[in-house]
Amino acid sequence: MDLFHTRENYEVYQGKQWSYLNIWLILCLFPRTCVSSPSKPNFLLILADDLGIGDVGCYGNDTIRTPNIDGLAKEGVRLNQHIAAAAVCTPSRAAFLTGRYPIRSGMASSTQQQVLFWNGCSGGLPPNETTFARILQQQGYSTALVGKWHMGVNCKTRRDHCHHPLNHGFDYFYGMPFTLLNECQGTDDPELAKSLQDTYWLYTQMITLAVFTLVIGKLANFFPVKWKIIICLAICGLLHFLSWFSSYGFTKYWNCILMRNHDITEQPMNLNRTASNMLKEAVTFIKRNKHRPFLLFVSLLHVHTPLTTTEKFQGRSRHGLYGDNVEEMDWMVGRLLNVIDKESLQNTTLIYFASDHGGSLEAHRRNSQLGGWNGIYKGGKGMGGWEGGIRVPGIFKWSGVLPAGTVIDEPTSLMDIFPTVVHLAGGAVPQDRVIDGRTLLPLLRGTVRHSRHEFMFHYCGVFLHAVRWHQKDTVALDKLTAAVMLY
Ligand SMILES: *[C@@H]1O[C@H](CO)[C@@H](O)[C@H](O)[C@H]1NC(C)=O
Ligand SMILES: *[C@@H]1O[C@H](CO)[C@@H](O)[C@H](O)[C@H]1NC(C)=O
Ligand SMILES: *[C@@H]1O[C@H](CO)[C@@H](O)[C@H](O)[C@H]1NC(C)=O
Repeated sequence: MDLFHTRENYEVYQGKQWSYLNIWLILCLFPRTCVSSPSKPNFLLILADDLGIGDVGCYGNDTIRTPNIDGLAKEGVRLNQHIAAAAVCTPSRAAFLTGRYPIRSGMASSTQQQVLFWNGCSGGLPPNETTFARILQQQGYSTALVGKWHMGVNCKTRRDHCHHPLNHGFDYFYGMPFTLLNECQGTDDPELAKSLQDTYWLYTQMITLAVFTLVIGKLANFFPVKWKIIICLAICGLLHFLSWFSSYGFTKYWNCILMRNHDITEQPMNLNRTASNMLKEAVTFIKRNKHRPFLLFVSLLHVHTPLTTTEKFQGRSRHGLYGDNVEEMDWMVGRLLNVIDKESLQNTTLIYFASDHGGSLEAHRRNSQLGGWNGIYKGGKGMGGWEGGIRVPGIFKWSGVLPAGTVIDEPTSLMDIFPTVVHLAGGAVPQDRVIDGRTLLPLLRGTVRHSRHEFMFHYCGVFLHAVRWHQKDTVALDKLTAAVMLY
């Protein structure tokens, strides 16, 4: 009996929806009265690296100063449940660019190494994956990536650049094809070189021991062994020793590279200049393209270790070097927003700010914490399935189109950027593959109340760790709950 009652209510509700739909359809027959979304805006997408949700003022941090990001939220829409598809860089960024879970594009790893580890390794975002940049390029947009890529460079040869940003829909690229390493700054705690050095040192010791044993055995006539073999082995040991000695240098030389389009501009790069160079490039791109639709993806190197921070910001925050770096990043965001305002592009530009995944709890040097803070959420970077690794800040601003000062608690994904951007640019998402992202515009504008995500999957590499379920038809659920409470 109770159930029947609820069901009836539900059908009444459904009926109402239908009549709304009818009015909508009638309105649409007369195009002028039909409210359509504005088309072909510019896009400024800003992605921070390793920034935790708890590091940002508008997400509840009261000691770190992020006035520019907070201002963005005040004038736009802040997402409270914005989820990255992975808890580390490479797969999360692949999902962001393609709107697909990394397991679909082959960007999810089945080994311990979850990200691309060398600039020179073959591997990266497959050439047949379609990024939003590629579709926008086809829609007449001028597209650029300034900053970190970390999606691979080459397939078979040193120069084929099959994974390069210019092969994935960007007209212009300035930045790092790889990711920041401690080696890039020349700190005393190399990351990549460390494991290499350990290996080389172990082999050096083992070979040296073997050579000694053989020499003594030969001289004492314990066993016959040719000098040739001993000399070969000794050379092999020497090479390992040299590799151990020089690995710091070559991990830096091969990975810490800046490129402009297909050309290397700095190798190894001078990290002290990189942030200001990136800003300059981004500002120039906006000014150069202000008369045509553009997509600018600013993929910040902040706030990844080694936290290179200019003198102006050093020692300014209340949270050590990490806090200084966050505040400098916020200043960079402010500079970008200023250009949009100064060029009078604020009504025609959709601005987005997010982080690629949660803050790194494990990053520290000696006693000082160098990684971010994920607020009340457990876990962090590299910890799949825990909220702290995947729940990130996510803010949209588009003056005159998105309601200012809105907060949305519905689950959304970084993968949603793909269909959102593609639709706004007048393009269509590829039909020959599954797209996991859902267009966000109705939610952001407040024309719908609920996210289109019913299930979200949380992977660590190729392994599924958790699933988030969001009841789609919460109205029916609310009524059912109400009915149960009433009777
Ligand atoms: C603000 O951020 C810093 C740096 O990550 C962190 O140590 C601190 O706990 C945060 N404060 C709050 C209230 O979340
Ligand atoms: C891309 O190519 C690979 C290898 O041929 C194939 O397995 C995959 O399905 C292709 N992806 C798309 C989206 O077509
Ligand atoms: C942006 O839109 C607002 C409100 O419609 C208007 O007052 C303002 O002049 C516009 N700004 C520019 C630069 O077009």
